[in-house]
Amino acid sequence: MILAQFCNLVYSMAYRVLFVCLGNICRSPAAEGVFKSMVQKAGLESEVVIDSAGTSGYHNGEPADERMREHASRRGYKLDTLSRQFIKEDFDIFDQILVMDEKNLRDVLAMANGDQSSKVKMFTDYCQQHVVTYVPDPYFGGPQGFERVLDIAEDGCENLLAKIQLDLSK
Ligand code: 4NP
Repeated sequence: MILAQFCNLVYSMAYRVLFVCLGNICRSPAAEGVFKSMVQKAGLESEVVIDSAGTSGYHNGEPADERMREHASRRGYKLDTLSRQFIKEDFDIFDQILVMDEKNLRDVLAMANGDQSSKVKMFTDYCQQHVVTYVPDPYFGGPQGFERVLDIAEDGCENLLAKIQLDLSK
């Protein structure tokens, strides 16, 4: 009981980030895997809660796309989550909800009440190496699309981590 309360306290004090795309099988699980790896290397895994979701429920319960997992694995990232749909309660749980494209942004904002929309941002706002305004959907394309997702994810996640480290140090 005391352990459960302690775990709840740690969870409630953590900084919580949710990555969102359409299917939650390519872009958002990739960003989640990249970010988890960076957060772990920074020794912050107990202070940052990381998850991902899709605006559609098309792939609910499925693992990440095999191609996305394969490309991520070559860079040392393990994508082992199952797809789930974004729900309204996510606004209560997460501090930052980072969407991959404009359609995701519209769909998530359409579910927001009051000031919940202030938690929602384009993931690419964190990119500094790549001049991009969204993360292109690789699902119907070739291998280079999956590599591009990872390039953008690494860029954005690096700066997201730096921002969180700054916030946690205040
Ligand atoms: P994601 O990619 O949004 O990055 O997970 C997609 C996955 C599935 C589909 C579209 C995009 N789909 O149409 O099934």
